[in-house]
Amino acid sequence: MPQPRREAAPAKLNLSLHVTGRRPDGYHLLDSLVVFLELGDMVTVAPGPLSLRLTGPFAQGLAVEPDNLCLRAARLAGREARITLEKNLPVASGIGGGSADAAAVLRALEARPERLETLGADVPVCLASRPVRMRGLGEILTPLPPLPPLAVLLVNPGCGLSTPQVFKSLMRRDNPPMPDPLPDLSDAGMLIGFLQDCRNDLEAPAIALMPEISACLAAIRAEGAQLARMSGSGATCFGLFAGAAEAEAARARIAAANPGWWVATSGLAPAKL
Ligand code: C5P
Repeated sequence: MPQPRREAAPAKLNLSLHVTGRRPDGYHLLDSLVVFLELGDMVTVAPGPLSLRLTGPFAQGLAVEPDNLCLRAARLAGREARITLEKNLPVASGIGGGSADAAAVLRALEARPERLETLGADVPVCLASRPVRMRGLGEILTPLPPLPPLAVLLVNPGCGLSTPQVFKSLMRRDNPPMPDPLPDLSDAGMLIGFLQDCRNDLEAPAIALMPEISACLAAIRAEGAQLARMSGSGATCFGLFAGAAEAEAARARIAAANPGWWVATSGLAPAKL
């Protein structure tokens, strides 16, 4: 790696997230449609001894600790590197964050170590960084055909949620999976209709832990979103809108009315190879 390399770490969005079972070791079986956004963190990797520097609007939400996922990813790959992480996404917010950062470090290092999933269940999907159906614990990935352009609004109430705690608070762990095979999702109307029949099974336990999530969902619905749902284990919620102008108008109104919230719009990321 003679030159510094910049690598985008796109935010991950769970358009649906069905929890279909639990393994004896406590991990949950999932069935989820996952897409990636233009919006994300940025990782720069330069030659030198292993180190991490944090910049960006959400850098204060993280500390430079040995267990930072960027450092763990480089160590798992057996590589030295000076890593800079521009943290543009809120921390512990259900949109990939740490897993996307770890995957970006591995892409920048052109490394694909074994036992990737030990970094986190979402690291394999973030390494793929393209629309997929994700099953198992997150390791069974089925690529989706190209999706229509999506205008996404993201709303986060300004506080993080612990993923293990949300899973622990889940009342029912054997929920129905998504239909198999999936219908043709390349048509926007079909995709929205299909998603309306899907769920995020972590929404109810996350709301029980953090009632502000209900307020985020209500604000998105009040703006006329075609779909309003929480991503991952929360607390970030998303709305799908008919177009970028509608999403942007909703963003401006929700941000003005809720100064403590993080509100952003994005399209889908171009697929990585
Ligand atoms: O793998 P990751 O570090 O993202 O997972 C955090 C925690 O979330 C795990 O320790 C586990 O408690 C829970 N989890 C789960 N089932 C999954 C993914 C995560 O129970 N498929």
